[in-house]
Amino acid sequence: MEIMVFGAGYVGLVTAAGLASTGNHVVVADTSAEKIQMLKNGKVPFFEPQLPELIDSGVKKGNLEFVQTQNPEFKKKLEDAEFYFLAVGTPEDDQGRTDLQYIDSVVDVISELSSDLRDKIVVVKSTVPVGTGDRIESKFKGKNKFPKVVSNPEFLKQGNAVQDFLRPARVVIGTEDEAAREILVFLYKAFMLKRDRIVTVGRRSAELVKYACNAFLATKISFINEISQLSEKVGADIREIREGMISDPRIGDQFLFPGLGYGGSCFPKDTISLIHQGEAAGMTMQLPRATREVNRLQKQWPLRRLEKSFGKELGKKKICLWGMAFKPNTDDLREAPSVEIVEALAKLGATVHAYDPVALERSRELFSNQVTGGQLKLFTSPYEAASGCDALVIVTEWQEFRTPNFKKLKGAMANPLIVDGRNIYDAAMVSRYGFDYFGVGQGQA
Ligand code: UGA
Repeated sequence: MEIMVFGAGYVGLVTAAGLASTGNHVVVADTSAEKIQMLKNGKVPFFEPQLPELIDSGVKKGNLEFVQTQNPEFKKKLEDAEFYFLAVGTPEDDQGRTDLQYIDSVVDVISELSSDLRDKIVVVKSTVPVGTGDRIESKFKGKNKFPKVVSNPEFLKQGNAVQDFLRPARVVIGTEDEAAREILVFLYKAFMLKRDRIVTVGRRSAELVKYACNAFLATKISFINEISQLSEKVGADIREIREGMISDPRIGDQFLFPGLGYGGSCFPKDTISLIHQGEAAGMTMQLPRATREVNRLQKQWPLRRLEKSFGKELGKKKICLWGMAFKPNTDDLREAPSVEIVEALAKLGATVHAYDPVALERSRELFSNQVTGGQLKLFTSPYEAASGCDALVIVTEWQEFRTPNFKKLKGAMANPLIVDGRNIYDAAMVSRYGFDYFGVGQGQA
């Protein structure tokens, strides 16, 4: 099939490379000349395991190419495509409402084609509020264009995006059009050789499925985080509580790790969008509201913990952070707990030392003021970062932090205190090396 994917971000590039891997011919279009040039030079603009290899293989087979939307070649490629996958950003505006300007501009670009577009299919992969498919369709109609508009939300997780695309738990296709449904099912069957996991639903339902999934997962995280706070207060251990919960198959063992609150580009944005969508429909979305509030409080846990240890002296201390990315296997800092911690500590006057295996460059850009002002120092070794520090906070649970050299770490630190925001260590074990230890929701420790 001839496919054009709009947007060279996480969703766009993974979708494009994934669809190219089954033999389709895919062109990725983006407005950013810089991004397209990077991709043409064989570089991926962000860190995502396995993606560079998948892209490279698509390019080598001649199944995958990149074009900037201002390039003279773009028009011809636009004409040739049978499918337009929309994977552009849908950020929140300053009120937390979904900003659809990038979707609108892609619709405008496609509408410029001379045909009536009856033989084309527009597939919306970006996360968009319910009713956006209808809105897109009527925008096209207003220009006398009649493509089929399908909702096909994406469920990939950063850090595991390639595997999520190639071996999806399910694919949701939302359309009322029989022919569009049939051809999209065919396109995705290639990823389901063992078992069919395609869910075909109406377009509005598909749009809402995406928000329901993300809000539900965010709710699970806030639930366990809230119980972790209670657990800490009453002298229980959240790790034991989790074990007791997950042995019930109705509850399951996924997304029930307590931590420093969820971050990233999806859960924070989608929960607030759901609240607005509820308001627009005349109802209050109680659970997303509570989920967000619990998440806000959870992000403050390390600071509250450090304040308990150091009191007013915290502003004079050196605090080391291991991990800056919002989760392991990504260099993404959007809504990462590290951001709040760095800002709050810098405001108090403390010095922050930080190490992250891949997010150092992005941290340098994001915190350019704090780096220039000397409040944040970035290190390429975890032990150098910890050197001379009064506390170590585990912010992101990168695999390489799980069994460090505790002797070396203790020798490097000025004060042996570990504040473990991801519960990757055990109090009894680290205390053998002479550390004071606090884990999330571990009232006993
Ligand atoms: C999330 C969803 O998991 C994907 O299914 C969805 O496609 C994606 O959003 C999206 O809408 O594009 P992602 O944001 O990449 O994926 O990352 P997750 O692995 O879901 O983690 C989100 C946050 O929750 C992270 O900050 C993570 O540390 C936190 N988390 C996750 C916990 O605190 N506890 C857990 O048990 C699991």
